[in-house]
Amino acid sequence: MSELPHSVHNTKDLGKSKAATKILIAVTGSIAAYKAADLISKLVQDDFDVDCLATEKALEFIGPSALEGITRKPLNTDMFANPSDIIHISMAAWADLVIVYPASADVIARLRTGRAEDLLSALFLANNFSSPWWIAPAMNSNMLAHPAVQENLQVLSTWGCRILPTEEGRMACGTTGSGKLLDPQQVRDFVSSWYASGEQDEH
Ligand SMILES: Cc1cc2nc3c(=O)[nH]c(=O)nc-3n(C[C@H](O)[C@H](O)[C@H](O)COP(=O)(O)O)c2cc1C
Repeated sequence: MSELPHSVHNTKDLGKSKAATKILIAVTGSIAAYKAADLISKLVQDDFDVDCLATEKALEFIGPSALEGITRKPLNTDMFANPSDIIHISMAAWADLVIVYPASADVIARLRTGRAEDLLSALFLANNFSSPWWIAPAMNSNMLAHPAVQENLQVLSTWGCRILPTEEGRMACGTTGSGKLLDPQQVRDFVSSWYASGEQDEH
């Protein structure tokens, strides 16, 4: 049997390039929000097309200039900033992968209950689950263990969201336990595996 052409052996040759693979990082109001800058930087260095959304409360923890400087794009925060864009609809269709990093307890609750008063919640409702949503919780151990948060995560998982693990360690609040945001390098590794799987070609 004759050799298959290289392009058939290498599935990446058949699919989207990294530069054409669109990843949205949604940053929410956690003290770990600064780690989002590191994650975004790593994904930009990996040549993905990365855009960023921040909730209003996320901007209490990280400045827009850091995020805009790394993505080289205006930060998306306000659904009403340019209403003719209808950004919660266009961005939901744009993204091949959405990573909520870090995901606050409140945003997890909003996603689970189908709220739509802010850009991230509305965008979640506008997604038709053709692109994966990864949720990276970050919060105090007691908050994470609370049945309300656990149930919310369980429901989001049932809907197809991937709940990323948290790390154990000492948190800003002084307690030691689970709830620390997953390290940016580990998320980068997950993204690399996802990209290598070719799943993004299905979007
Ligand atoms: C100093 C400080 C640190 C906080 N860290 C967290 C956190 O790590 N995780 C979390 O779920 N909430 C945390 N909160 C509470 C959230 O910021 C608050 O619930 C906020 O409304 C979340 O907004 P968002 O979900 O719209 O981004 C923190 C609040 C303060 C004042």
